[in-house]
Amino acid sequence: MTDRPTILLVAPTFYDVSYSINPWMDPAAWARDPRGMHRHAMSSFDALREALGTAGFTVEVVEGAPGQPDMVFPANAAVVLDGKAVLARFRYPQRRGEEAPFAGIFENLRARGLIDSVETLPDGCYQEGAGDCIWDAQRGHFWAGFGPRSTREAADAMAQHFGQQVVPLELATEQSYHLDVCFCPLAGGDVLYYPPAFSASALQTIRAHVPAAQRIEATEDDLRHFSVNAVNLDDQVVMTRTTPHLRTELGRRGYRLHEVDLSPYMLSGGGAYCMTLRLDRVSAPVQRAAAA
Ligand code: ARG
Repeated sequence: MTDRPTILLVAPTFYDVSYSINPWMDPAAWARDPRGMHRHAMSSFDALREALGTAGFTVEVVEGAPGQPDMVFPANAAVVLDGKAVLARFRYPQRRGEEAPFAGIFENLRARGLIDSVETLPDGCYQEGAGDCIWDAQRGHFWAGFGPRSTREAADAMAQHFGQQVVPLELATEQSYHLDVCFCPLAGGDVLYYPPAFSASALQTIRAHVPAAQRIEATEDDLRHFSVNAVNLDDQVVMTRTTPHLRTELGRRGYRLHEVDLSPYMLSGGGAYCMTLRLDRVSAPVQRAAAA
């Protein structure tokens, strides 16, 4: 496996918004101008790819599959740590057709030496990849969202596969259907999160693990901009065009923002983080320039 910060993207060749499995998805808006929307999606994708390069990533782009528009969100395809990829199991039939093509993609990444091994989950649980299982490099554990998509048992399965601590967090609303919509641990130890997305006990858990000075509370406006769904490398943060609140708050803490217009993907309920998947994450702390 590689020790460079390597991040996977899936080209939007087959992207569209043609069904609705979360409250943000708007197939009618897409259908008003499918060609224009697709063009916009292509240029947004190019802008994201460029921003990720500027932020310091090596970007790997693979092709999706016809009829599986949501493959542009590879964060949902697997959880990757220490060279091991554990493949996702999707809750909705609309996305289950992604499992076979993604298995092929990960096998190919393994053959190329970008990851070391590919594993599958036991039957009987849903788990939607790094969208619901986020590695916190500062604290050295996973945070696992469950409820709308991934099941609670998936958190235990992940702990077994990776031999790491997994802290489960119950998601209380359909609006924050994946953990990455409402929760983002940053390299400086800060955690950007949207409190109303969580059950009371999940909020207690977050507050027990993250001291007040490191908690950045997102507003509803931040959430609607899909700004919590951000990609972070050291002090660099790649996200959708964001709000004055987050520009100020993240800037004050020493983060440098790269804002990208990802509106065609927000129409599917996605932002920058879910359009990516880190392939190089390791559980041992990595020494790089610190944020802030
Ligand atoms: N339309 C996709 C879905 O509802 C969007 C997924 C976005 N991914 C994420 N990790 N938030 O499944």
